[in-house]
Amino acid sequence: MQEAWKFDEKVAERFDREAHMHIPNYEAVVQKCVAIAKRAYPNTTNPKIIDVGSATGYTLAELRKAGFENVWGVDNSEAMLERSRVQEQLILSHAFPKREGPFHMVLANWTLHFIMERRAYLEDIRSSLREGGILILTDKMTSTPFIHERYHDFKRAMGVSESEIARKQASLVGVLETLPLEWYFETLKDLEFRNVSVIDAAYCFNTLIAFK
Ligand SMILES: C[S@@+](CC[C@H](N)C(=O)[O-])C[C@H]1O[C@@H](n2cnc3c(N)ncnc32)[C@H](O)[C@@H]1O
Repeated sequence: MQEAWKFDEKVAERFDREAHMHIPNYEAVVQKCVAIAKRAYPNTTNPKIIDVGSATGYTLAELRKAGFENVWGVDNSEAMLERSRVQEQLILSHAFPKREGPFHMVLANWTLHFIMERRAYLEDIRSSLREGGILILTDKMTSTPFIHERYHDFKRAMGVSESEIARKQASLVGVLETLPLEWYFETLKDLEFRNVSVIDAAYCFNTLIAFK
């Protein structure tokens, strides 16, 4: 039986390459987050921004490059945090670090789909956002087999082998749980987020923006 997926030292070591090869629009979504932060806070010195599931800190580093200094990361994997490009203001936690709020902006890209208590996590994010604060989230969402296969075509085009595609898919069973796009719209609205919109979509991955 395939071993279950874990963000351990082995994954941490190969994560940067893997993110670009396995996640469609990875770079585009990161750059959209940076661009939105710039537009949303042109006059706020150092808006407080947190990346949920900050992993090896690619997004944190891009935000720092753009001039944002009050940038935080939270991840529940020590191995990932050890390899983070940015080492300041990192929090090792399975739960959202509410005590560090309020935040102007919360990014949660490719992370919430690993969290089974997703609604409760989103509730904690909302309560830790400032009024008018922004949430951007990206998850793999439930799709048809046809669309899922096109996602695998993307991996193939990036040079990922059939055996690697099959191995990863098997290892994620019970670890990454998809929910339909409708669930996100309904839940975000139910939690009183406003103006929920899709800002990026690629096969089974959707990026949503929502405002408190
Ligand atoms: C695919 S990576 C996210 C990539 C990252 N956002 C980026 O922009 O490069 C998913 C990350 O979520 C982390 N993670 C999974 N469950 C978590 C939880 N409950 N709390 C915090 N981090 C979690 C994993 O350790 C991993 O580093």
